Amino acid sequence: MPFDKNILCIGAGYVGGPTMAMIAHKCPKYKVTVVDIDPVKIAEWNSDTLPIFEPGLDEIVKKSRKKNLFFSTEIEKGIKEADIIFVSVNTPTKMFGVGTGMAADLQYWEKTARQILECAESPKIIIEKSTLPVKTAQAMERILTFNNKVHFDVLSNPEFLAEGTAINDLEYPGRVLIGSHQTPDGLKARDELVDIYTNWVPREKIITSGIWSSELSKLVSNAFLAQRISSINAISALCEKTESDVMEVAKAVGMDHRIGSQFLNASVGFGGSCFKKDILNLVYLCRHYGLYEVADYWEGVVKINEYQKERFVMNMSNAMFNTLAGKKICLFGFAFKANTGDTRESPAIFISKRLVEEKAEVVITDPKALDNAKKDLKDQDDKVSYVEDPFAAASGCHAVAILTEWDLYKTLDFHKIYSSMTKPAFLFDGRNILNHQTLFEIGFNVYPVGKPALTHF
Ligand code: UDX
Ligand code: ADP
Repeated sequence: MPFDKNILCIGAGYVGGPTMAMIAHKCPKYKVTVVDIDPVKIAEWNSDTLPIFEPGLDEIVKKSRKKNLFFSTEIEKGIKEADIIFVSVNTPTKMFGVGTGMAADLQYWEKTARQILECAESPKIIIEKSTLPVKTAQAMERILTFNNKVHFDVLSNPEFLAEGTAINDLEYPGRVLIGSHQTPDGLKARDELVDIYTNWVPREKIITSGIWSSELSKLVSNAFLAQRISSINAISALCEKTESDVMEVAKAVGMDHRIGSQFLNASVGFGGSCFKKDILNLVYLCRHYGLYEVADYWEGVVKINEYQKERFVMNMSNAMFNTLAGKKICLFGFAFKANTGDTRESPAIFISKRLVEEKAEVVITDPKALDNAKKDLKDQDDKVSYVEDPFAAASGCHAVAILTEWDLYKTLDFHKIYSSMTKPAFLFDGRNILNHQTLFEIGFNVYPVGKPALTHF
């Protein structure tokens, strides 16, 4: 059956995979191919065990796979056949040379642009999907227009999905943003992309802008979200000193509709592949333009996040008689948030390493993230163990620390857990998801975030 359009996505990761699965699911008339340089990942996308865990993803992949959704390593062939190419290769923070630890490492991007230029034989629309520093499209265009062999239009269409809710976010997006040049060609390309989304997204939710505004909006959205978390986490430190309750404060503050109630959960710190990277990108960009005060302002959001993670470890140490050496500490959750197996930038990585530095023994349990945890902590092997069952994991431990807000932890039998632990038993709730009074009555010394501790001494 001939398809109306050939859509290609380069990069079969957390963004490319689910986004293309949704397009294929909603648009049977398009052929959607996802390619990646990693043959193992592609084999997993073609198997019963997908490379990422995302609620609802299995179902939509299985419905469309091999009908109008294809996963392949044939990048060149994909480029040749495609009318529209989404690029969602990774853009990690640069770990060498100029901009180390701050700027985005665009080497994968540049390679992709060069490969598109080399293989393309017909005009194409190229869409930036990954988060990128502002003006990446310009760099992309410079590479693509190098020999004027083929006409390319570059669009920015940032992804706003959050992991764990990606499928719902893709199916019912709050907004779809498409940035283009305001030239006749740019606007025509933009309208083609609008047409794809109108297959399932109401037209009023699809907003268009200039290409640089679109690139910047993605960075700024993530910076604002992360800023709310750092704001409430900063206040959680003050609450702990003043015997106030950060959840009560967040509720009172969030009921002002100008502020809103979401993203005000104090925690052990934010993680995920986007927030830190995007803010550091923004900071780098501001410094590049000489806007040092603006850069410092946003860098503060990341600094408070680092402080919050360190503060959590220090609170543990202070509570447990100023030493963690030789103590066995069980971490409930390793993923950076619930409903994902992703551990990129998870606060659990920092906390595990710090606990090991303090000479504690660390036991990690998580329903989906143990494989990634093992990779993240591969250099700490002899001091860290991994146990699937939370009861077995906590047994014999001096403390349990909740690091991920998995629902399953809310309903565990904490009487059973308490009875198997070394006494006095400590519980550090880094997500404020448990009933602290009940835990205290069971016998735990309970330390929430931003609330008074409940202790038996
Ligand atoms: C984020 C953005 O939400 C999404 O729009 C963007 O496309 C990608 O980055 P994601 O990283 O998947 O999505 O997760 P998100 O739900 O934003 O959570 C990020 C981190 O903040 C997690 O570690 C989470 O636990 C933490 N968080 C979130 C808090 O600590 N408190 C909150 O109130 C909310
Ligand atoms: P994101 O969360 O942004 O989706 P991921 O790291 O999950 O990031 O996915 C990015 C994917 O891009 C990886 O699977 C990686 O193998 C792939 N990739 C990187 N460079 C290239 C390239 N030049 N060609 C094809 N795929 C690439």
